[in-house]
Amino acid sequence: MEKKAFNIAIDGPAGAGKSTIAKMVAKKLGFIYVDTGAMYRAIALYFLREGVCPEEQETICQEVGKAAITIRYQDGAQQVILNGEDVSGQIRTEEVGNMASAISAYPPVRAHLLELQRGLAASQNVIMDGRDIGTCILPHADAKIFLTASAKVRALRRYKELTEKGITCDLEEITQDIIERDARDMNRETAPLKQAEDATLLDSSSMTIDQVVQAIVDEAVAHGLALPSEASGEECGWK
Ligand code: DC
Repeated sequence: MEKKAFNIAIDGPAGAGKSTIAKMVAKKLGFIYVDTGAMYRAIALYFLREGVCPEEQETICQEVGKAAITIRYQDGAQQVILNGEDVSGQIRTEEVGNMASAISAYPPVRAHLLELQRGLAASQNVIMDGRDIGTCILPHADAKIFLTASAKVRALRRYKELTEKGITCDLEEITQDIIERDARDMNRETAPLKQAEDATLLDSSSMTIDQVVQAIVDEAVAHGLALPSEASGEECGWK
């Protein structure tokens, strides 16, 4: 009998470190990392380019089909393709993130990505991160993690990341932005950000990256994953 794919779902608020952690776990376990936020960001970019505002719900719901999203992998890194164009480098701005948060509240936008996300997890071992992976997209995932950290810690991490890149920013503004994004993602009607009943809560506020990675690997093993022999990694700290 064909062996079922092993799926790990990671949900949590913006800036909890989901993508950094998920990439490391994927590498350690030989899994594919699926970043669903990048898919929402690519749709957001489509509408920003079209000059559509986040409040134009009717237009967005009617036209979301025009934003064809696929993903591909190059050297293990996910690339997100919007209507044939690799937009991976253009979706990481605060503007795109805020637009993604707004449009992801609209049911047709979520429905547009559902099959792509489920299809990716059906045939291969994946670690998928987002807001509704454990609750809606992969309700039968083998292991579910809800990864969070205090808004203050998340803002500080984001501030350091931007400052190290030479980008001038304001900690107060970043904190406010994170609080607003949390509220939007948690209070929307469709697939709000929330911990699945059977998910394990990990608060990374006072954990190192390695401790979080190890906790997720342990969780996967506890749910039946057989570890590859080389699944141990080198140390590193939060960036
Ligand atoms: O994880 P991120 O910051 O790249 O996600 C951008 C926005 O996309 C986030 O604020 C909410 C939305 N999103 C979502 O609604 N569901 C997901 N599974 C992933 C992201």
